[in-house]
Amino acid sequence: MNKPVPWFSVETGAEETARVNQVIASNYINDGNVTREFERRCAEVLGVKHCVGVTSGTAGIALALMAVGIGPGDEVLVPDLTFIATANAVRLTGASVRLVDVEPRRFALDVAKAEAAIGPKTRAIVPVDVNGRGADYGALEALCAKRGLELVCDAAEAFGSRFQGRPLGSIGRAGAFSFSANKTVTTGQGGMVATNEDAVHDRLRELKDQGRRHQGTGGNDLHPVLGFNFKLTNLQAAVGLAQLDRLEQRLEGFRRRNRWYQELLGDCPGIALPAVDHNGGEITQWTDALIERADAVEAALTDDKIGSRRFWLPIHRQDSYRQADAGFEGAIGASERGLWLPSHFSLTEAEAERTASVIRRVLTGRA
Ligand SMILES: Cc1ncc(COP(=O)(O)O)c(C=O)c1O
Repeated sequence: MNKPVPWFSVETGAEETARVNQVIASNYINDGNVTREFERRCAEVLGVKHCVGVTSGTAGIALALMAVGIGPGDEVLVPDLTFIATANAVRLTGASVRLVDVEPRRFALDVAKAEAAIGPKTRAIVPVDVNGRGADYGALEALCAKRGLELVCDAAEAFGSRFQGRPLGSIGRAGAFSFSANKTVTTGQGGMVATNEDAVHDRLRELKDQGRRHQGTGGNDLHPVLGFNFKLTNLQAAVGLAQLDRLEQRLEGFRRRNRWYQELLGDCPGIALPAVDHNGGEITQWTDALIERADAVEAALTDDKIGSRRFWLPIHRQDSYRQADAGFEGAIGASERGLWLPSHFSLTEAEAERTASVIRRVLTGRA
């Protein structure tokens, strides 16, 4: 009987327990000193001036957009191939979404198509670092500067990854990370916004805490500007700090995993493993594959108790954003062929070999 291989799996241990117990013993389980420490540690890892902990990646993207002045009446460009949260976060600000196609092999916003999509109401672009792969930031920064657009990055899946040496999430006016359960660092749910600008940082703190600049008892506090409640608690931050201690080890494991799959499947017909720029610091959380018969491969893996995950449907095919397929060929192709291979932190070489042999059997018709 084959042992199940999960696609991805949360790993916590004694360090998380010890830090969470400390928070409970302190009797301050709200957003507080441990959240601040987690923010400082994240800022250090990312090489940015400020990090602000929030409830989720979705909240992070929305607050980052609000902090740079995006709201009702504005239009924001969003790639068509991403988790739907990116588009929903734009909607949360009151702005509208304009979908743009992606590059077929890196899954990042197609910058030429983005430029063509800019209209009179376009005020910002939210590129998505799908699975740790950066968009073409040199071109995007130049485009935003030329057209007077804000650049706010969805780095939800890119903690610890770099684009040509630059930490993802540190580019543009602000970058948002997710700490949901299938991320390199998780706090169960949670998020972080990174920025190098003091004014954006100050506005983020107001936005996540009911417009307060100073927190008192909550009774007669002053709330001079509009804000909400998007706080990240000490309990969550305690888990995050313990996870951060494992970051380097996890990133090394991701590189090793990509090498295994490359060796095992690099020459297999019917499957392509899009390149990862390890020299530039790019790291993918999961190993992505483009497969001619992704449905058949997914079914065979499931039969063998091996987990995998299909790429998202293009956003334009979801009911709340539905529009015609024309112009979204990059997103459609990647969505139809894309499969994330088993990528859990403790994946063994034997599990990668088992996965590869099932894929080969389906694609070559040979056992
Ligand atoms: C690309 C992308 N954007 C945004 C999000 C939203 O993050 P969260 O689930 O923490 O709200 C996620 C992850 O879930 C994501 O993968």
